[in-house]
Amino acid sequence: MNLVRQLLATSPVVLAPMEDITDAAFRRICRGLGASLCMTEFVGAEQIIADSELARRRAYLSPEDRPTAIQIYGADAELLLAAARIAEAAQPTFIDINCGCWVPAIARRGAGAGWLRDPNAMVEMARRIVEANALPVTVKTRIGWGPESEMPITDLACRLEDAGIAALTIHCRTAEMGHRGAADWSWARKAQERVAIPVIVNGDVVTADDVVRALDETGCAGVMIGRAAIANPWIFREAQARLARREVAPPTDAERLTMFRLLTEASVAKRGERHGVAAAKRHIAVLGPLLADLKPRLLRARALAESLDALSAV
Ligand SMILES: Cc1cc2nc3c(=O)[nH]c(=O)nc-3n(C[C@H](O)[C@H](O)[C@H](O)COP(=O)(O)O)c2cc1C
Repeated sequence: MNLVRQLLATSPVVLAPMEDITDAAFRRICRGLGASLCMTEFVGAEQIIADSELARRRAYLSPEDRPTAIQIYGADAELLLAAARIAEAAQPTFIDINCGCWVPAIARRGAGAGWLRDPNAMVEMARRIVEANALPVTVKTRIGWGPESEMPITDLACRLEDAGIAALTIHCRTAEMGHRGAADWSWARKAQERVAIPVIVNGDVVTADDVVRALDETGCAGVMIGRAAIANPWIFREAQARLARREVAPPTDAERLTMFRLLTEASVAKRGERHGVAAAKRHIAVLGPLLADLKPRLLRARALAESLDALSAV
């Protein structure tokens, strides 16, 4: 049986890859709350081949960090092929190829969503990587590049399935939309109706109810959550409960305080004190109702001790 399908059958809710956010520490947190399947932040093929420090950090998987896919990106099929072979050595659960990044510096040079401008080349690249790798290979992409009235994703899904990929994640926006406008899940439904491999629907899943609705409306095998998890990693726990028709209590104040402390400490360990404390503020909304009182002190904090003191004053 398709390994990715097996994993999704156990737990269909996946943590999205997000650069500079879904690192090992954040994956551990989200996995503990029910995101059993995770992906690394994207890692550049050139970086992997050069064995750069960044690539090592992003693609290193500790033994308990499973199941996790390593996501690679690049514009050159040859380099992606070489990078995928190297990434296999870290023994990820599978290799995911990023064909969805819209950021101009990446997509304009043909990497990420840039592949959507040449679907033939994208399918051929995927086929070569599948053939050269022992591990399952998956693709994460968008519904199309931009102005098409009939999005290429349904046809592309069939061709990628023929090329041998094990699963397809669809961020249901075009590349030109970036993160603007609403994600249209109906494209994931159309794709899942056409292929036997699992499709993972992504885009604008912001509550546990959305998780249930996205799965119901699309018939997809999985659902992927990105931005909503930054402020609410408990969304995975809530989603698992809703899928099992169980009630779950919202996070307690103590859980919220612990969560922000863990995220801040992990951020400092990774980035150093000044940048770490600053970067952790992107997760400040995990504090929920406590935020109103804590915000001024936390936003002013420059040192780890200042952040921790603010939290312990509650
Ligand atoms: C800060 C940030 C970084 C991201 N980095 C990646 C990445 O490394 N690889 C990738 O495939 N998608 C990346 N994405 C896109 C997300 O995985 C996801 O497809 C997108 O945010 C839509 O899902 P959402 O509405 O649940 O956030 C990133 C998104 C954000 C906001």
